[in-house]
Amino acid sequence: MARFLTAGESHGPGLVALLEGLPAGAPLSEARIRADLARRQMGYGRGGRMQIETDYAVLQSGVRHGFTTGAPIAMLIENRDHFTGNGPDGKPWTHTMAKEPVDGEVTPIHRLRPGHADTPGISKYRQDDARNILERSSARESAARVAVGAACRAFLAEFGVAAHSHVTNIGGVQAHPPEPVDWAAVEESPVRCADPDASALMVREIDAAKEAGDSLGGVVEVVVTSLPIGLGSHIQWDTKLSTRLMASVGSVNAVKGVEIGKGFALADLRGSKVHDVIKPIEEWERNADGSWARAWPRRTNNAGGLEGGMTTGEPLVIRAVVKPIATMMTPLPSVDLTTGKLDQAHYERSDVTFVPTCGVIAEAMTLFTLADAFLEKFGGDHIAETRRNYEAYLADLGPRGSA
Ligand SMILES: Cc1cc2nc3c(=O)[nH]c(=O)nc-3n(C[C@H](O)[C@H](O)[C@H](O)COP(=O)(O)O)c2cc1C
Repeated sequence: MARFLTAGESHGPGLVALLEGLPAGAPLSEARIRADLARRQMGYGRGGRMQIETDYAVLQSGVRHGFTTGAPIAMLIENRDHFTGNGPDGKPWTHTMAKEPVDGEVTPIHRLRPGHADTPGISKYRQDDARNILERSSARESAARVAVGAACRAFLAEFGVAAHSHVTNIGGVQAHPPEPVDWAAVEESPVRCADPDASALMVREIDAAKEAGDSLGGVVEVVVTSLPIGLGSHIQWDTKLSTRLMASVGSVNAVKGVEIGKGFALADLRGSKVHDVIKPIEEWERNADGSWARAWPRRTNNAGGLEGGMTTGEPLVIRAVVKPIATMMTPLPSVDLTTGKLDQAHYERSDVTFVPTCGVIAEAMTLFTLADAFLEKFGGDHIAETRRNYEAYLADLGPRGSA
């Protein structure tokens, strides 16, 4: 089983990720992690911060000569902005975010932003400066999650598992992506959208929102292929893979809804149009070595690859809706935390939309959850042991024969 924690603030010296549970012998390199961190930094509508940073996770432990050792994997991502940039009051971030007391005043943030963690945060942690909340609630932290997801991707890729994501809606502009989605086209699109016409309209919508000092939300979809049937469990509420995926994807900043397969659209459909009929054995595909390519394949995949809290072997399809950014150039009315009187919400350099990036983060959370479920099912302290268990399991799927 795998677990991870992150630490770090948006404008502190850096972010830390600690991942434990990957078996020994899985390939991992800083270059592989960098590839996902670079994808996280792209996307039309992001603010100036992404021009400052070139996120790079330095492996501190758990990897030797290109392979995991089974020990905890610690990763450190520096915040370049901390060392080179100035805070909102014109003083260096090293001053604003200093660990030791500093000479002179550091301008506190008193004007609370509706839609951010500021108001419940200052109440719960009894803070007089909302910076002590916003620094951690900022999605800068998601760079550490993407590094964790990259390590999980490298592990799962050893079993042929591949994860992708794309944007299906920004600010109400709905994409109509081709089936199957052209993943190379997604990576080329400025908004990570597979529909070129919608892509262009989304860019226009982002420009219009920027012009108006406003922000936009949207929808992202993650698709994972080549998962074996039977990851997760139907036995307990918290062992169901559906529960775990909804929680992990739902934990991404600003995500306000998660759906699997046809999701909320199921409300309008009859059962006969929903459930995925199982193909008879004559239609099952075989690998070159004669083994089944996939046991118990379906004619459709409305369930999004999950039934009863377990994978079906069909592609996993999970979508998340992301709310528009709370920090706006034209701020909403708010109140001052010292006086309670009406004021404008605080503005600090912010994105217009982060929907394209959200797909990459949702992918990372999905990959971590799947790696955890994969190791729960197949175990192994070395990947060779995981593989033995995996292959023995696959060989034993299929019709049981007569008693
Ligand atoms: C990639 C990404 C970038 C974000 N950038 C900003 C931003 O620039 N300004 C902002 O106010 N919120 C931004 N957010 C959203 C906040 O982190 C989030 O809304 C806040 O933590 C409150 O949490 P909640 O929306 O989950 O309730 C971003 C989220 C993500 C996923």
